[in-house]
Amino acid sequence: MNNNEQKLSENLLNTAVVIFGVTGDLTSRKLIPAIYELYQSDRIPNNLNIVGFARRDWDNDHLKKIFKDSVRSYSGKEIEEEKIDQIFSNVKYIQSSFSQLEGYEQLRKYLIDEGIKNVLFYLATPPEAYETIIELIGKSELSHLTEGWTRIVIEKPYGRDLATAKNLDKLVHTVFNENQIYRIDHYLGKETVQNILVLRFANGIFEPLWNRQYVDHIQITVAETVGVGTRAGYYENSGVIRDMFQNHLLQLLALTAMEAPVGFTANCVRDEKVKVLRALKPYDAKGVLDNTFRAQYTSGYIDGKKVIGYKDEDGVARESITETFLAARLYIDNWRWSGVPFYLRSGKRLPKRMTEIAIQFKQIPLSLFNWHNMAGDAPNVLVMKLQPDEGVTLSFGAKMPGHINQISPVEMNFDYEESFDIKIPEAYVRLIQDALYGDATLFTRSDEVTSQWGFINGILDGWKEDPRKYLPVYEAGTWGPPGVDFFIKGDNRHWRNPEV
Ligand code: BG6
Repeated sequence: MNNNEQKLSENLLNTAVVIFGVTGDLTSRKLIPAIYELYQSDRIPNNLNIVGFARRDWDNDHLKKIFKDSVRSYSGKEIEEEKIDQIFSNVKYIQSSFSQLEGYEQLRKYLIDEGIKNVLFYLATPPEAYETIIELIGKSELSHLTEGWTRIVIEKPYGRDLATAKNLDKLVHTVFNENQIYRIDHYLGKETVQNILVLRFANGIFEPLWNRQYVDHIQITVAETVGVGTRAGYYENSGVIRDMFQNHLLQLLALTAMEAPVGFTANCVRDEKVKVLRALKPYDAKGVLDNTFRAQYTSGYIDGKKVIGYKDEDGVARESITETFLAARLYIDNWRWSGVPFYLRSGKRLPKRMTEIAIQFKQIPLSLFNWHNMAGDAPNVLVMKLQPDEGVTLSFGAKMPGHINQISPVEMNFDYEESFDIKIPEAYVRLIQDALYGDATLFTRSDEVTSQWGFINGILDGWKEDPRKYLPVYEAGTWGPPGVDFFIKGDNRHWRNPEV
């Protein structure tokens, strides 16, 4: 722990984390293991108060047991039983429905009796509960209760379109000031996502090339092998556009395309991201159909195992036209990027879990080597590999040794785990730490979320104009239907589909 972290950790004396929806999956899989890891690495003090607020008939001891079990099951770190006991020594369970004012009054009394100075509220509930909880936090005057700070972390989805996001934002602002609000996009907590800015702005070699003069196009891929699992109830009404594009993919795009911020502070970084989001070229109704390609998975094989199709998943309507795959061509109308296509795609049940940003540089103006060129027409690609094999790769063509005149593709590779000899930490560890320390750089600001929705709304509106009875389908374990290849081949380009 450095001096600054030590000071910040000391500032956390008499602090409570209040988790709404404490009985849910997110709490046990992500939040509680993250709190344990922060304590284990001395980044938070051991007397943190953790308050769980939910409907189930649990009590303090039961909650404590659940917390301990969840660390044992989900923490990637070494388990130190003594530390588990210490960090979960102050656990309180408040049993209440989210709409019952008495629950909030009980919470208020508890926080006052315990002498709490700082409060971090965490909304880990289904999004339908957000408005009620925020209203009642306001009504019971919990948002400015203490002499220290009060903040609220809000999970995605933040609205389901521009209008609902704006309504939610309006309500949140009646109870909290913007600097108290921490909207989570967990991709921003990933080390490799933060490294996009370091790679770009802590090095002199890339930035001069990072523009329309040298870049042919950019491909951002977030491919998953998992299906919809048990989340059909949510996913049916979201699709990949709301689940992944509105947040994670647009954030990756903004970090890749933004200008250098004036400083590395929350507002300076977010100012630059917002400028990119505002510069996204909106589509007209026909443009939406020409520049997006959606599809849905059918049954197939992932890692040699048979998996069912989307329509056969539990909770999915037989006539569902929810997209589980989307590819889109985006343009950023600013001086740096005008005319450079950004190809974004994401889907479930693709052959490989892979998140990467590939910067494809332009071809040479004239080929001097009349040789066999195995590196293809445009070998120069810089790939930021975000998961699962985290690192950066630069590909280029090299002369094959020997008398045969041939150019072969070769790579320069940086591998995170190999270079630093560490396991990449979970995004939530960093994000919860930042929320407790009061650093909002890795959280999305109000105007950022509404700009993201503004753009996505244009696509949703375009799709409404084109009511479909069915979507193109792709077999699970493939990179999408053939149509998605034509989508990019028409531009004389191709998708980077790695071999599995
Ligand atoms: C979530 C989506 O935000 O991100 C999920 O709701 C998706 O559908 C997940 O599976 C992917 O996150 P990660 O960190 O595994 O890439």
